[in-house]
Amino acid sequence: QSHLLGIEPLSPADITALLDLSEAYVDLNRSEEKHSQALTGLTQINMFFENSTRTQASFELAGKRLGADVMNMSMQASSIKKGETLIDTALTLNAMHPDLLVVRHPHSGAVDLLAQKVNCAVLNAGDGRHEHPTQALLDALTIRRAKGRLHRLNIAICGDIAHSRVARSNIMLLGKMENRIRLIGPPTLMPSQISEFGVEVYEDMKEGLEGVDVVMMLRLQKERMDGGFIPSEREYYHRYGLDAEKLAYAKEDAIVMHPGPMNRGVEIDGTIADDINRSVIQEQVEMGVAVRMAAMDALARNLRARRFNSRAAMG
Ligand code: CP
Repeated sequence: QSHLLGIEPLSPADITALLDLSEAYVDLNRSEEKHSQALTGLTQINMFFENSTRTQASFELAGKRLGADVMNMSMQASSIKKGETLIDTALTLNAMHPDLLVVRHPHSGAVDLLAQKVNCAVLNAGDGRHEHPTQALLDALTIRRAKGRLHRLNIAICGDIAHSRVARSNIMLLGKMENRIRLIGPPTLMPSQISEFGVEVYEDMKEGLEGVDVVMMLRLQKERMDGGFIPSEREYYHRYGLDAEKLAYAKEDAIVMHPGPMNRGVEIDGTIADDINRSVIQEQVEMGVAVRMAAMDALARNLRARRFNSRAAMG
């Protein structure tokens, strides 16, 4: 692949290869060394048009550990604020010869559009409600390490599915790897085209969590609700917040996940989030750095090969 824009175009073999490469980076990150030369001589620009803690920090750390020159664009201070379009900003940056562009944008499809205009590898760090591919990959790596496999698992994705790019990318990835996926949430927070997903849908948490191996909680994304129905936090927590009583319906060794940022007391009880016997939320953050190193390493190899071939073709 030339870019990482989403999970949709990846095959199960592509996903497995990326997760295997990520494992090597987990080991490297846990060592004293922490650094490799995979991106030495390459320039990485991070453009975040939406707030981020985990994704931006881990892409920056990943690039630096791989030896890239990393620049974080301050989009608040950029000419976008003066009316410059996304495409003009991208073309301006493209003229500075970056090799990797990491982009988060509030509009679905904006990152794909940008990738068509530049000469470098583009990584989607989350676009609107569309995709968040590195989140799904880091979730998959976390599950594979905790469960010893990434197939034939019962996985519940719970809460605000309709507004979640994390849910969309995870449904695609976990479906491709032949897991059984249950979506649990109020009908008002389920996507309208749910039948396309090949999943089971539950309105009741206890019913949906019965016997699952993995419980993936999602944030209530009020910023994407566009004046639509917003449930009260108290009522939402009562019906859909993960607490000990609801979690007891999952398998005894079920793991609890959350992509962050987390609203304690809204979608998850703080005690469950902090329970090191059940929660793998901190492991997800750790896997995020490794997965982003693997994704950028794989794209850089592809980029170097394409540049070598084009130079060879020109004689
Ligand atoms: N999971 C996730 O995308 O978190 P950030 O918004 O902090 O990057």
